[in-house]
Amino acid sequence: MRRFTQSALAGLIISSVATPLLAANTVTFSESEKATITSHGPWPPKMTPDPSNRVSGNKSAIAFGRELFRSRFLSASRRHSCVTCHKPNRAYTDGLARSTGVSMVDRNTISLANLRLNRWYGWDGGSDNLWAQSIRPILDPREMNATPALIAKRLRNDAPFSRGYQAIFKSSPSVDDAGQIIVNLGKALAAYQETIVTPRTAFDEFRDALAKSDEQETSQYPVAARRGLKIFIGKGKCGLCHLGPNFTNGEFDDAGIPYFKASGGIDKGRFGGIQKLKKSPHTLLGRFNDNPRRASGIATRHVTRSHQSWGQFRVPSLRNVINTAPYMHDGSLPTLTDVVRHYSNLNEERLHLDGRGLLRRLDLTDPEIVDLVAFLETL
Ligand code: HEC
Ligand code: HEC
Repeated sequence: MRRFTQSALAGLIISSVATPLLAANTVTFSESEKATITSHGPWPPKMTPDPSNRVSGNKSAIAFGRELFRSRFLSASRRHSCVTCHKPNRAYTDGLARSTGVSMVDRNTISLANLRLNRWYGWDGGSDNLWAQSIRPILDPREMNATPALIAKRLRNDAPFSRGYQAIFKSSPSVDDAGQIIVNLGKALAAYQETIVTPRTAFDEFRDALAKSDEQETSQYPVAARRGLKIFIGKGKCGLCHLGPNFTNGEFDDAGIPYFKASGGIDKGRFGGIQKLKKSPHTLLGRFNDNPRRASGIATRHVTRSHQSWGQFRVPSLRNVINTAPYMHDGSLPTLTDVVRHYSNLNEERLHLDGRGLLRRLDLTDPEIVDLVAFLETL
């Protein structure tokens, strides 16, 4: 009898606690919210070969590029490779705030995935195509510190790499000039990197189920993530910049991160990126673009520096973001909770708003922060 009373009492307590919990557990989305959520897919999207790179999608070039990516052949001291900073088992990053090759660079290593979806490359968009972006670290004195002449000489003297090169580019490195050789190696590296695509995630399953109104399937998606998603597309306004299947508009913005370099001085961000672009021989406007119509260079021709581009950085994709810590262009935020707290406590005066005002201090509660992070973790 006594036992019965106790368990009845326990049942009473559970049900009185369970009712409000249950209410909080049901997250529903309006038709317009559903449309927004659906716009973050489908995944993976169709990725076509890069018309500016004649070996894009070519199997031998992909294999050759993969070997180059892992080899120390491209660094002056033969001590560094692309893998030094882009480690395949760390989502092609290095886990450091600012990465180090020959010496420390100013920025955080970007994860290499879904690269065919980019319009611009690098935190500052200093390249308008993937092969140019792949040449940059080879020549940067702080990263691999090589020169086109050094790499050309090495290639001519290396029988296996030389044969690989000749088979793909149908010309011998002994007749090609150093400028052409470095571009071709960049194109093989690009062909390989284009094959790195992030897999489907719990979010993608939810998104597809929601599009089909499959309630059985949508209920598999964690409730905290659903609440976080509601904040992401709602009062967080995250989707204003992190939009579409790759969770980025592909352009540049100021998210209120200071832009001082560790070495002192200021990181000009997009402003500096446009300067680099205008000076580079390796853009879609130049002679190394293999697309005879050069149509893909229109954005580059029209891009102009403005005061607003100072201190702007590329809006990063949020796919696989759980695996790419630390965050932001300078790696200054160690965890996703730190990122969400940053947006929540945003110092609006620090922003270069110039009247756009997309970002506002959000003042999220602690449970809301937990939910938003739970959502980001499902990407
Ligand atoms: C010393 C570390 C280091 C090495 C070595 C390195 N990278 Fe990077 N990589 C970075 C950093 C840091 C960034 C961000 C650069 C920036 O925006 O200024 C980056 C960015 C990139 C990007 C741009 C991705 C995007 O989404 O815009 C590509 C592509 C890339 N690296 C490819 C390579 C290749 C190919 C190699 C080898 C030839 C290489 N990297 C070697 C550190 C490194
Ligand atoms: C006005 C455009 C804009 C809005 C709105 C915005 N972001 Fe960002 N986001 C950016 C930019 C730009 C960066 C890179 C900033 C930098 O490195 O200086 C960034 C970086 C991030 C990163 C770091 C990713 C990485 O790989 O380093 C995360 C995570 C993130 N945002 C999540 C969010 C969330 C969550 C929200 C909503 C609360 C949000 N963003 C709203 C533009 C925006």
